[in-house]
Amino acid sequence: MQVFWFIPTHGDSRYLGTSAGARQVNLDYIKQVAVAADSLNYDGVLIPTGRSCEDPWVIASSLIAVTQKLRFLVAVRPGLMQPSLAARMAATFDRLSGGRLLINLVTGGDTAELKGDGFFLDHAQRYVASEEFIKVWREVLARSHDGESYDFQGEHIAVEGAKLLFPPIQNPHPPVYFGGSSEAAHELAAQHVETYLTWGEPPAEVAKKVADVRARAAKYGRTVKFGIRLHVIVRETDAEAWADAERLISKVDDATVARAQAAFANMDSVGQRRMAELHAGGTKRRREDLEISPNLWAGVGLVRGGAGTALVGDPQTVAARLQEYADLGLDTFVLSGYPHLEEAYRFAELVFPLLPDRLKSSLPGRILNGPFGEVIANNIVPSAPPLQAAQG
Ligand SMILES: Cc1cc2nc3c(=O)[nH]c(=O)nc-3n(C[C@H](O)[C@H](O)[C@H](O)COP(=O)(O)O)c2cc1C
Repeated sequence: MQVFWFIPTHGDSRYLGTSAGARQVNLDYIKQVAVAADSLNYDGVLIPTGRSCEDPWVIASSLIAVTQKLRFLVAVRPGLMQPSLAARMAATFDRLSGGRLLINLVTGGDTAELKGDGFFLDHAQRYVASEEFIKVWREVLARSHDGESYDFQGEHIAVEGAKLLFPPIQNPHPPVYFGGSSEAAHELAAQHVETYLTWGEPPAEVAKKVADVRARAAKYGRTVKFGIRLHVIVRETDAEAWADAERLISKVDDATVARAQAAFANMDSVGQRRMAELHAGGTKRRREDLEISPNLWAGVGLVRGGAGTALVGDPQTVAARLQEYADLGLDTFVLSGYPHLEEAYRFAELVFPLLPDRLKSSLPGRILNGPFGEVIANNIVPSAPPLQAAQG
């Protein structure tokens, strides 16, 4: 199990849908979240893209020097830059970070936003452009190890003699992650990416997506890995976790939900539509209706675009739900919670000890000696918690 956290470059808060309890997301804060994720042994962090976000490359670059082994899953959106430039940026970042770059290929599903960025293609054509982009990106990086150049003539992208003089550390190139729920997205994933990501749909739906992408990939003689993007609300008891889920949306009013749902309805993203269906376009508001499968709560999506579901429960329950997804063939879990700094700690402290693979995936050499827990009576050292004890 690879467990990633999230850098909240479009804001962070204790409550959704209001500025009450919000905190400023600035360099100090994102450094704190990244350093927390790094020192807690998360495998990486997802950094999103979009006009609501700070630019992911600038953000990721600002975090290289303050982290040691954390990997950066940086979103790249075709249409915003030429693939040769994206390849050059990837190679530079990979070298400067010691091989810690991962790429999230983001086709984009908000046409209003895309037009603002100068990208006017419809859904089908956007996927053609995405496919051409990732082909060129991949070839330019792969060939850089042998000093070779690349020519390509597509419908939307053409390059002649595209060449990188300085290859990335990862060979042939940093792994490519990608999410999208349309047929075109599944087809692209089957042919061109290393890991397919889904937003947190119920296990039965995720199983269908995995089966479809897998079957398509097999036709090309390929295998694809799978991951899921979920929020988490973990507390020591189920009751506390559900109370905090309610609290998170306690300041959301009907007008805000209506505005958010209207914006989602204007997008042509199949993934976003599937998220909206989970809470029936904002009309489900009671806890029992929003719990769309055991411990999977669709409340976040009432106002948040993209990942709109959270696993809610005590540590054992949430660990078991994660294992359920793992049993479907998923090995990458991209998680987050509000606020992102405190919840990075809470999740790691409460749930990591219950995830057996966390022990194996911790790098050797990061043996933690404590202090763990305050010394009792200035003399008695509490024993280390299970995860650290096993690492030591
Ligand atoms: C895990 C994950 C992360 C995503 N990150 C972003 C993002 O940072 N910015 C964005 O605009 N879209 C993001 N998306 C949306 C997809 O990239 C895709 O553009 C969208 O779902 C539309 O494709 P579809 O119609 O095939 O579902 C993400 C999707 C997933 C599953």
